Amino acid sequence: MEWGMANRLAQLIQSDGHCLFLPVDHGYFQGPTRKLEEPRKTLEPLLPYADAVFITRGVLRSSVDPDKAKPIILRVSGGSSVVGKDLANEGITTSMEEAIRLNVAAVGISIFVGTEYEKESLLNLSKLVDDGERYGIPVMAVTAVGKELEKREARYLALASRIAAELGARVVKTYWCENFDKVTKGCPVPVVMAGGPKVDTQRQVFDFVYDGMQKGAVGVNLGRNIWQDEHPVAMIKALRAVIHKNATPKEAEEIYNSEKSKKK
Ligand code: 5RP
Repeated sequence: MEWGMANRLAQLIQSDGHCLFLPVDHGYFQGPTRKLEEPRKTLEPLLPYADAVFITRGVLRSSVDPDKAKPIILRVSGGSSVVGKDLANEGITTSMEEAIRLNVAAVGISIFVGTEYEKESLLNLSKLVDDGERYGIPVMAVTAVGKELEKREARYLALASRIAAELGARVVKTYWCENFDKVTKGCPVPVVMAGGPKVDTQRQVFDFVYDGMQKGAVGVNLGRNIWQDEHPVAMIKALRAVIHKNATPKEAEEIYNSEKSKKK
């Protein structure tokens, strides 16, 4: 592997082989998502605990100071919105030249396997991989957002993840599901888990992240269940322990409870 590519991957996946990516890209199709209305306010307290941030160029420039940044995974697909016809109808929104100018560690793009726009999104991924490989920039493929999340089962997620890896993604982001090892075993590149919409309890998040890690995930790309939590810093610290210290869900809960009671 070329030095630049290896160096960027090492910025993302830490020396223990694990990673905690913090996505704040939701506004690119959802607008001012709850608790992300002012991205700088959401991000600043969490940044010290993230290994990388998944973000669009607009929010990166406006809301992250260049001298305090973490490795950046630049969201480079979009072009649709929650009020438009079809979220799956995305194109590439940001050039590789811009990604290089922003000194990113990786770029990220969604694919929509099983939709009307399956082929376009997969060709977008392939084109992005061609461009990224030319300059040593890894591509993270994001599987199954929006309506596709209804298909949250191993057969579908394994299919989408494997296709992303076959087309050259260096990292695949998917959702946790029952029998998650079917997804990781069938995907020859590192797999990270997203959280999806906020769930009712912190324990549910610790449980699925722990299970996914035991079943071969390298980490998370997990947003709403961190920054929509009442105590986001406590949440990210507890998740860090699961990911980097192999903490059990019970231990993570204890960390969360002790962190949330600390004075800010
Ligand atoms: C949608 C994304 C997010 O980065 C991804 O869904 C992770 O965030 P969350 O944990 O909130 O689902 O690709 O824009």
